[in-house]
Amino acid sequence: MLQESFRVVAKTHHGLEEILAHEVSMAGGFGVKPAKRAVYFSANLETLYRCNLVCSTALRFLVELKFYNARNDDELYNFAKRVRWTEMLDPSQTFLVSSTVYSPVFKHSHFAALKIKDAIVDTFRDASLPRPNVDTSNPDVVVHVHIANQNVSIMLDSSGESLHKRGYRITGMPAPLNEVLAAGMIRLSNWNPETEFIDPMCGSGTLAIEAALLASNTPVNYRRSSFSFQNWPNYKHALWEQIFNKELEKVAPPKAPIWGADISSRAVYASKDNAEAAGMSEYITFKKADISETKPTQSEGVIMMNPPYGERLQPAEINDLYAKIGTQLKHYYSGFSAWILSSNLNALKFVGLRPSQRLSLFNGALQTKFMHFSLYDGSKKTKKQ
Ligand SMILES: C[S@@+](CC[C@H](N)C(=O)[O-])C[C@H]1O[C@@H](n2cnc3c(N)ncnc32)[C@H](O)[C@@H]1O
Repeated sequence: MLQESFRVVAKTHHGLEEILAHEVSMAGGFGVKPAKRAVYFSANLETLYRCNLVCSTALRFLVELKFYNARNDDELYNFAKRVRWTEMLDPSQTFLVSSTVYSPVFKHSHFAALKIKDAIVDTFRDASLPRPNVDTSNPDVVVHVHIANQNVSIMLDSSGESLHKRGYRITGMPAPLNEVLAAGMIRLSNWNPETEFIDPMCGSGTLAIEAALLASNTPVNYRRSSFSFQNWPNYKHALWEQIFNKELEKVAPPKAPIWGADISSRAVYASKDNAEAAGMSEYITFKKADISETKPTQSEGVIMMNPPYGERLQPAEINDLYAKIGTQLKHYYSGFSAWILSSNLNALKFVGLRPSQRLSLFNGALQTKFMHFSLYDGSKKTKKQ
């Protein structure tokens, strides 16, 4: 069904494109090019399977089936009929066509999706085969159509549910970080996994769990129940098992402490549950503590946090909380690199340290700053800067 090598589009969050491009190259992708919230590359099936398993900053991997120029609805349909759909799905399987359209010619994305759906169904009918049914909630095969002006790209989703669903978030807490964003934040920080990692406001434990997955070389999606490519008629189970086992052989315990803390005991329970579900509980400790009680146990490392942004707190309370974070960093974290993700730019000023980097990231729809405070030379020098 697919050629030896094919084009793939990996989707990610804004600001993580370069990080994902590096991960894809490490997993065997070639011709890798970062783009807007995406990375383009070429792969074979083995690389595609591995990317789904190990790339921590990808949301999904789409395989390009056809790229063409369409001037009207008939061309949209006719070119779509040239795809060998009968090799892409079995008549007994269900499918869904999703679409994104930015075009003055094709104004309605729903209509474009319908045209592609018709092309798929008609291809089966023309081959005198039973037609596969559409399923909007749990389809076996998902086709994406992306139209920009007259450029149409028809893609097959190899991942299925977004890859941030690693399968370990079994106990939720309010305002959790998306797992892909958390993994991206850790990689952006250039944390050396041979040094300590601390999240003193861990909520449901996402940052600490992603840090442990990285430090232990564990493939991030090894606990996920399924991937869409496993429903494709060309799925090679033996190849998947071989890749899976080879990646698992690389797992080794982290070399430095990784821990999380939270003022809420519910958050600590949730973090422990989730770490257990991720298979990381041996590698992380969680404790109930106010940020003012948390201190590093080593001389070097990263302290990273996603404090409340203040939606439910009074401005004075939130400013005090950020000032408390700053005091703790200045007094106890000399030698550390501190990273704070927040959308509350005013509260961030109360940390009282000059950031050495300010990166823009989105936490869901919220525009946030990911601030780096370098405490390597001690608090006094950092303040003077
Ligand atoms: C936005 S949530 C963090 C979400 C987390 N990153 C996740 O992925 O689930 C902020 C957390 O900070 C905790 N928190 C608030 N004030 C605190 C304090 N003074 N000391 C420690 N934790 C605090 C809250 O209990 C909450 O769990």
